[in-house]
Amino acid sequence: MAIREIRHYPNPVLAQKGETVTVFDAKFQRLIDDMIETMYAAPGIGLAAHQIGLPLQLFIIDGAVQDPDHPIIVMANPSILSQEGEVIDEEGCLSLPQYVDHVKRAASITMAGLDRNGKPSTLEGNGLLARAMQHEYDHVQGVLMLDRLSPLKRSLYIKRIKKLEKNRAHEHAAVG
Ligand code: CO
Repeated sequence: MAIREIRHYPNPVLAQKGETVTVFDAKFQRLIDDMIETMYAAPGIGLAAHQIGLPLQLFIIDGAVQDPDHPIIVMANPSILSQEGEVIDEEGCLSLPQYVDHVKRAASITMAGLDRNGKPSTLEGNGLLARAMQHEYDHVQGVLMLDRLSPLKRSLYIKRIKKLEKNRAHEHAAVG
């Protein structure tokens, strides 16, 4: 297993619609294992393939957000079957470092997809799991939580990111 590099906004891969997963071979199993290791190392409670540079319809979620003994959730080619209610709560994203904001999400959601072996599965979530499912589902469509904020908040964040990048470029210049 290996920890992969997490891509940050504005990396264009994050805005691509994910391709359908069709092959569930040994290489795919290694990819899932790498995603799990990368998620734990970050640390995060979910990770989409986009975030390690692969625009696929694929995400994982740490099942412990539901209950401590729940295994890792792997969802390929997810689709939303139903959703209910509305909750506004804090959310962060590994691809948007040092940023947390309130995002409106459905309170509960049911999705269908394929597990790591390509077997059909449905996943029902509420609370933090429902929020993570919607966050990761967005990622595989090429949507970031940034896209769900008001235009003002979004532009403030983009300004901040650009400033951080500029400072980083200066640091690099300073050491040659
Ligand atoms: Co994210």
